Amino acid sequence: MGNVHVLDHPLIQHKLTHIRDKNTGTKEFRELVDEVAMLMAFEITRNLPLQETTIDTPVMEAKAKILAGKKIGLIPILRAGLGMVDGVLKLIPAAKVGHVGLYRDPETLKPVEYYIKLPSDIEERELIVIDPMLATGGSANDAIASLKKRGAKNIRLMCLIAAPEGVEVIKEAHPDVDIYLAAMDEKLDDHAYIVPGLGDAGDRLFGTK
Ligand code: URA
Repeated sequence: MGNVHVLDHPLIQHKLTHIRDKNTGTKEFRELVDEVAMLMAFEITRNLPLQETTIDTPVMEAKAKILAGKKIGLIPILRAGLGMVDGVLKLIPAAKVGHVGLYRDPETLKPVEYYIKLPSDIEERELIVIDPMLATGGSANDAIASLKKRGAKNIRLMCLIAAPEGVEVIKEAHPDVDIYLAAMDEKLDDHAYIVPGLGDAGDRLFGTK
């Protein structure tokens, strides 16, 4: 059963406060998101499976642990997800990185996948889907469904901030997916922005409007 983990480490919370502040400019915003992503990666990977190997230390042969299985896959959802990739890669530099781009057709309201490129063998990898703002949950829901359709089995979802509405959508549709957040906010406003949130994560990361 998937769980919601709010990572309330003081360093994460301190940095998140500056990320939320509208007076934080693009350069600092990017740097802070990068730092928070790295700190979150430490917690998100806490229960990764290990396997035993044998090595030679300078003193003797020894049994030791290494991460089991294939390299982890990071799957940022375009575009804001890109802002958290480098931070995670600082801790897991050998991770593979796939990309998913989606939008919702305004008429049919069905998800349209305009881009997807994934690491090979996703069914054998631990995957971390990255979506900084879990608002309605629509994109994350669709991206996770798309990964599962292609065989993915072990998926964690990493977000900076979530609204309760988005969390419920993922819990309902993907009860097997653990959700990791830096903060759970109050609600969505009428434009599906998270309140109090941080505004548009993509625009703040890339300096667009
Ligand atoms: N996406 C964002 O970037 N911000 C929100 O508040 C909601 C969705």
